[in-house]
Amino acid sequence: MLELDSLRRVYGDVVALDGLSFAVRPGQLCGFLGPNGSGKTTAMRAVLGVTRLDGGEVRWRGALITAQMRAATGYLPEERGLYAKMPIGEQLVYFARLHGSSAAAAASRVAELLDKLGLRDRMGDPTEKLSLGNQQRVQFAAALVHEPDLLVLDEPFSGLDPIAVDTMSLLLREQAERGAAVVFSSHQLDLVEDLCTTVAIVNRGRTVLHGEVRALKARGPTRLRVTVDGDDGWLSSIPVGAEVIGRNNGEVTLVLGDDVDAVGVLQHARTSGVVTAMSLEQPRLSELFRDAMEERA
Ligand SMILES: Nc1ncnc2c1ncn2[C@@H]1O[C@H](COP(=O)(O)OP(=O)(O)O)[C@@H](O)[C@H]1O
Ligand SMILES: [Mg+2]
Repeated sequence: MLELDSLRRVYGDVVALDGLSFAVRPGQLCGFLGPNGSGKTTAMRAVLGVTRLDGGEVRWRGALITAQMRAATGYLPEERGLYAKMPIGEQLVYFARLHGSSAAAAASRVAELLDKLGLRDRMGDPTEKLSLGNQQRVQFAAALVHEPDLLVLDEPFSGLDPIAVDTMSLLLREQAERGAAVVFSSHQLDLVEDLCTTVAIVNRGRTVLHGEVRALKARGPTRLRVTVDGDDGWLSSIPVGAEVIGRNNGEVTLVLGDDVDAVGVLQHARTSGVVTAMSLEQPRLSELFRDAMEERA
């Protein structure tokens, strides 16, 4: 398990990390979310030892993370770094070999990755000949070419087309399924909601929400969507604890407080007409994110 425990980092009068804590277990795919400047890159750099800490500690398997473990981690840094002139295939084989793969294993793994990423026929091209999106695919491949136990990726999905996003999602899922602990930062909340088992949401260097995506969603207030073939009269006297948050072509969306019974609200709706459609929904991750930011503000 990777543990970020009470991380603190100060730059001049900017507190970049202000007690940030969360953990990622083997097999977990953790989305690391937060507004720009909230400390995500700083925290990931601290995990890799690229930046020092003013307080707190990073642990791997219960002990302080070692230089050796850091070197073995699959890391996609914010500042992308590939050799501009070296053919991408050669480069990836080189990275895999650095991490101790045999020549044969490295070659077959690189071929497999480039194949999946749609870059097999570009193997002999130097990085500088590739589009930015393709360079990012290669950088991503470089982070997982040696099948690390820990993957730390700084915005791996930014600026990619939907095909690349799908492929990379699949590859990350595979990594988690074989037991790697994976953490990546992103602003794509819907993607994180679909892909991740856990999330850590940070703001101003502190963790504001952390846990399993499924549990966090289940804990959030339920949404009720109702379509009534009739007037809106019933809305003037809905139960206390139910709040209308949207109205669209006769469909009304309400947020229900913990003690509000959905059936009671529906019975209420029936006083205005026939209920033609209804559904109960959990909040989206994007809503939980927004709520967490507001609570903090
Ligand atoms: N090397 C640095 N020198 C000064 N300030 C920095 C440095 N790195 C980060 N910061 C500041 O720390 C805060 C957190 O930045 P960062 O970790 O990059 O956030 P995020 O990745 O969530 O966007 C920001 O206010 C940023 O300006
Ligand atoms: Mg960042």
